[in-house]
Amino acid sequence: MATCRTCAASIKPFMSFGRMPIANGFLRPEQFKQEYFFELATAFCEACGTFQIVEQPDPEKMFHENYAFFTRTSAHMVTHFREYAEWVKAHYLSDVDPFVVEIGSNDGALLENFANAGIRHLGVEPSANVAAEARRHGVESLVSFFDAGAGERIRDQYGEADAILAANVMCHIPDLHGVAKGAELLLKPKGILVFEDPYLGAMIEKTSYDQIYDEHVFIFSLKSVQSIFGPYGFEVIDVLPQATHGGSMRYVLARRGARPVSPAVSQLASGEDAQGLGRAATYQDFRTRCEHSRDQLLDLLNRLKAEGKRVVGYGATSKSTTVMNYCGIGPQHIEFISDTTPIKQGKYTPGSHIPVKPYDEFKTHHPDYALLFAWNHKAEIMSKEAGFRSGGGKWIVFVPEVSIIEG
Ligand code: TYD
Repeated sequence: MATCRTCAASIKPFMSFGRMPIANGFLRPEQFKQEYFFELATAFCEACGTFQIVEQPDPEKMFHENYAFFTRTSAHMVTHFREYAEWVKAHYLSDVDPFVVEIGSNDGALLENFANAGIRHLGVEPSANVAAEARRHGVESLVSFFDAGAGERIRDQYGEADAILAANVMCHIPDLHGVAKGAELLLKPKGILVFEDPYLGAMIEKTSYDQIYDEHVFIFSLKSVQSIFGPYGFEVIDVLPQATHGGSMRYVLARRGARPVSPAVSQLASGEDAQGLGRAATYQDFRTRCEHSRDQLLDLLNRLKAEGKRVVGYGATSKSTTVMNYCGIGPQHIEFISDTTPIKQGKYTPGSHIPVKPYDEFKTHHPDYALLFAWNHKAEIMSKEAGFRSGGGKWIVFVPEVSIIEG
C-alpha cells in the first residue's frame, strides 16, 4: 500500500496513465533503447486532500544540466512574471534593503525584475544550464535544491528574507516538509511565502489530465496547501487565481497571525467543497472523462491519417508527453512537433519518438492540421498563427474537449 507523501496516510491509486518516460526527456535515436520508464499512477489522499502521483522518478533524472524547460520561450509568461514581481514589490517588501529568494528560478524570468530594480535577490535552481542563463540576465543563482539545509545556509549568508517566491515549482518537490522547514528558517517574522502552480479545481473542471507528469508530483488545492504548511506555523492569507498554465492558483502564506487573512481564502474553500474536490467520486468521474478524451483523440488522429491528412504538433510541452504516451500517439499520427526551444529541436519526444523541429518548419510547411499541445498559450499562439488558419489550416485541441477549430 502506498502512503501519502505529505501526511503518510494510506493512499490507493484511482487511475494509471500507464508506462511513462521523463516528460522533458527529449532524446536522440541512439538513446531510445536505454529510455527510462515508470508507471504514472495518481492518488487522492482523503486524509489531507492532496492529489499526487504515486511513483516519481529520482529528481536528479529530471532536473540536471540538460533540463529542457526554459521559461522565456513564452512572451506571455515573461509579462506574467513582470506583473508577479510588481505585485510582490507593491505589497510585501520592507522599505529597507529587502531580500527576495526564488525557489526554482529557472532562467531568471521572475527574479530579473527584482535584479533590474536593484533589489537583493537569490535564485535557487537545481538545473545548472537554466541557472547559467539566469546569470546572463543578471540574476544571482545558486545551483541547488531548496530544503531546510539550504534555507539555513542562505539565512546565515544573506540574512532573513522578506519573500520566498516560486512559480510552477512547488508542485515539483516531493519533500515539501523540507521546503516548509527551510521557509520557516529563512523568512522574516512578517515574511511571506508565495507560490503558484496548476490548480486542481481547474484540472478537474477542464479534464486537463496532461498536467499530470513526472515533474508534477502534486496538483494542489487550497485544502492541500493548508494541510502541508499548517504544521510549520504557516497559514494561507490570500489566494489569487491565475490564467497561466491553463488555470493556476497563487497562494500567499505567512506565519500564523502575522498578517490579515483575505476573505478570498474562505470563499475558495467553499468553492472547493461545492466542486467536490474532497470526494473520491470526483476522481472516479475525472478518470472516466480522461478515458473518453483519450479515445476521442486517438480516433480523430486515426481518421485523419486514413484520409491522408498532414498533422503536426505545436509545442513540445512537458504536458504532451502524458498525452502522447497515454493515448498511444506516435510518428504514424504526427509528422513532427514544432517548438521554439533550441535544446528540444533535432531531438525526439519522450516515449512517442516524434521528431521535434524548429518553428520555421511549421511556418514554411503549413500542415492540414496542427495539434495544439501548448494549449495553455492558445491566445498567444492563435494571434501569432492567424495566417495558418486563414490559409485553410485547422487546429486540433483536446482541452476541455477534443475538437477541431474550423476556419
Ligand atoms: P509550457 O507551456 O511551459 O508547457 P509545459 O509546462 O507543459 O512544458 O511549454 C510551452 C512549450 O511550447 C515550450 O516548449 C515552447 C513551446 N512554444 C512554441 O513552440 N511556440 C510558442 O509560440 C509558444 C508560446 C510555446
